[in-house]
This record gives sequence, structure tokens and C-alpha cells, in this order.
Amino acid sequence: MPPAKIIIDTDPGQDDAIAILLALASPDEIEVLGITAVAGNVPLALTAINARTVCELAGHPEIKVFAGADAPMTRPLRTAEHVHGDSGLNGPALPAPTMALQPGHAVDFIVDTLRTEPAGTVTLCPLGPLTNIALALDKAPDIAARIKEIVLMGGAYFEVGNITPAAEFNIYVDPEAAKAVFACGAPLTVMPLDVTHKALTTEPRVQAFRDFGTPVGDAVAAWTDFFQRFDKDKYASPGAPLHDPCVIAWLLKPELFSGRHINVEIETQSDLTRGMTVADWWGVTDRVANAMFIGDVDADGFFALLTERIARL
Ligand code: RIB
Ligand code: CA
Repeated sequence: MPPAKIIIDTDPGQDDAIAILLALASPDEIEVLGITAVAGNVPLALTAINARTVCELAGHPEIKVFAGADAPMTRPLRTAEHVHGDSGLNGPALPAPTMALQPGHAVDFIVDTLRTEPAGTVTLCPLGPLTNIALALDKAPDIAARIKEIVLMGGAYFEVGNITPAAEFNIYVDPEAAKAVFACGAPLTVMPLDVTHKALTTEPRVQAFRDFGTPVGDAVAAWTDFFQRFDKDKYASPGAPLHDPCVIAWLLKPELFSGRHINVEIETQSDLTRGMTVADWWGVTDRVANAMFIGDVDADGFFALLTERIARL
């Protein structure tokens, strides 16, 4: 089977960075057509730098990286330096990237790629706020039918929110964008906090990266050490949830995950609950199912995959 062709839309973010490494470490199964940066964890100027930093760390300066939206569609940007640090990639000291940003806007790259590649062959992997994806759908509604699958990290139901009591960060930052993406009709797989909070970076799992004795392994361990300080304190947990790599792991080993194909709607009206993913897990409405909502993961299998692949870089 030929490798899956994907576009990673991202707001690095240490967990985004590890997701990008996992994709670049798996060329037999994944072809990264491009990476599109979006404002989220930190402003766009930094996410566009961070995406390139990660590509160079992985030894892939040939990857096309584009800058996208610097703010949500209608709301002011909310960032998360309190989790990820001022650079968004706090932890290791990594050199500034030398690879250039691609000319042109990320949204145009997404539209052009979906129109140029054969219909049904490109998977979108959003790891941050969904602004770029929604803008692409708005600019070119015809692309919705050409998307093979959207596999995104975002939302929460049984795990409830992490940026407000009701909402997960990626959906909260741009709920209007999320509403458009969840309604676009493309096959949608969602990795919410319900599953990512079961993929915890415990010390033995982080030590496995340190044991590589490579710059990549050291960077992954240092990133994890940095961002888990916040989550371990907040959740009183033995590690931090490794959110975004779940998206790439789904493409590599979907059997690691389980969930339900259900209706998921996005709340946009109330200040109290904006960005809530209203997941009809128990089928109590007649709303049409629009998302494979993932609830569980084989965490040991997930980290075994992550470790085995990233050790290749
Ligand atoms: O809520 C977790 C999500 O928000 C992750 O994608 C993390 O990188 C941040 O973007
Ligand atoms: Ca992210």
C-alpha cells in the first residue's frame, strides 16, 4: 500500500513537535505533503518557526512549511504560553531553523493540494485550532468532497475541558472554525481529551527517549520534562497527556484506539460553554453521526510505537 498523503496543520507546541517527528519517522506509511502553521499555543510567527525547527531536528529540511492564520476567524487569539513556554517549544535549546518558509498562504496550499491530488487521497491532520482548515473550506467549498479524512486532536466529553470547565483548547480558541469543520461532511476522526489523557508521559516512558542518546531523543525528553510540569501539578497525574501524537498514531496503528461514530456539535453561542464538543455518546438525539469520537487507547502500545519510530531519526 502506498504511503498515506497528509497535510499536518499545527501550532507547535511540544506535543505537536512529537507528532511531526512521528510522521517524519514513518516514510513507508506516511508522506507529509506539507506542514501548515496556525496561531494557537503561541502566535503564528513562532509556530511557523517551530514547525521548521522540528523538521530540521528530524533531518528533513525539504518539508514544505507554510504560514497560515494569525488569529481565529472572528475572535481574538488565546495562547497557552503557561503550558508550552514563551517560545512554544521550551525545554531543549535548539538552533533557529535555516530552512525557508514557503511563499504563499497555508490556506492556498491546502486548497491547491486538495484540488491537484486525486480526490479522496489526502488526509488532513489538524493539531491546533481549526482556523486554517475552516478558511480553506470557506474559500473552496468544493474541497470538502475531495478530503480522504480529517483526523484531528481536539474536544472533550467525559474528560471535560482543559482551558475552561467546558472546552478543550484547540476547539475553544476558534469554535466557529471547529463548527465549520465538524459540519463539512468529510470523514472525521476526533482525538479528544477523553483519549489523550490516557496517553501519559510517565517517567519510564520519558526515560526510553533519553536512552536513545540522540539529539532527537534528548529533545523529546526535554520537551516532555518542560510541559509535563504543568499538567502533572494540575491533574496530580504520573505524567502529562501526549495529545497530538495520537493523531499520527491513528494513521499508523488504528487498532491501538477505540471509539464510537456519533454526532458531535460545537457550542459557539455562550461565553460559559463556547468551544464545548457536545458529543452524543449515548445516542439520545436523532442528530446525524459526523465523527468517529475516540475514547480509549492501548497506552503501552502507543508509546512502544512512538519510541520505536522516533528512535529511527
Ligand atoms: O488541548 C490540547 C491541545 O491544545 C494540543 O493540540 C496542544 O498542542 C494544544 O494545541
Ligand atoms: Ca497542538
